[in-house]
Amino acid sequence: MKSYTAAFGLAAFATQVAAHGYLTSPVPRQPGNKLKAACGSQIFNQWSSDINGNIQGALQNAGQPDYDAAACNIWQCKGMKLEEGGNVESFTAGQKVPITFNVAAPHTGSANMSVVDTATNSIIGSPLITFDNYASTATGVTDAEKNFDITIPSDLGGKCITAGDCVLQFWWDSPEVKQTYESCIDFTVGGSGSGSAPAPVSSATPVSSAAPVVSSAPAASSAPAATATAVAAAPSATSPAATPTPAAGGSALPAEFTVQEFISWLKAETGTASKKARRHARAFF
Ligand SMILES: *[C@@H]1O[C@H](CO)[C@@H](O)[C@H](O)[C@H]1NC(C)=O
Repeated sequence: MKSYTAAFGLAAFATQVAAHGYLTSPVPRQPGNKLKAACGSQIFNQWSSDINGNIQGALQNAGQPDYDAAACNIWQCKGMKLEEGGNVESFTAGQKVPITFNVAAPHTGSANMSVVDTATNSIIGSPLITFDNYASTATGVTDAEKNFDITIPSDLGGKCITAGDCVLQFWWDSPEVKQTYESCIDFTVGGSGSGSAPAPVSSATPVSSAAPVVSSAPAASSAPAATATAVAAAPSATSPAATPTPAAGGSALPAEFTVQEFISWLKAETGTASKKARRHARAFF
């Protein structure tokens, strides 16, 4: 009984270890009925229980009968849709927008935030901010990687007027774990005419001035209108993470696992479970 209780405590901990990151402010896309209809109930459940998860992990459910690859479009916003009643930010051209991203577990990689045209899944202009070295497990996560400002481009080629047409997508890819994380904020920009003057919003969270890894992309105003860069699929797209197999007899814990699989693994590891769990905990932190 006692060890069973301990297993649940560790399972809760493991869920957090398997988590990676998601935008927290402004309010990003959330799982809902449209996601479920397009991507299936497994992926819906996955994002609902752990919104920080990676795309490669979710793709293990690509064989489910209710997964529709085209409708899910998982490489855009992790398949997350603008749901009924979902948050849509109303920006003005040139507006400075403070962004907050929660790095739940660091994995070294690169990241950027871009305006993505959802119909074509292409970046409008150039990325608004680029991190060449993001969430490094070697040097740590800086405050500037979690709290930063982006500036809404002044020329979006006449797009982004209707809710759902454009998102601010935060994209983070970590080759070391072959995982990609995306999160999106829906927004519109007012059309040309009155009220299009920049309305800077003061940042609630000061961004560290020492941010050597952050290289802001040139303002989109200097970029040609409606220049669209194809959003390439992540390099690890074709190599989904290995299917977790909680095996018996001293096997290593897979990099990705569900709570249920973790419990099975713990049971299989009776006697040495707590020792191994501690070792894994050290490996993660
Ligand atoms: C920026 O993010 C997009 C996905 O939105 C990705 O395809 C692209 O490779 C990234 N570019 C850079 C320079 O990081």
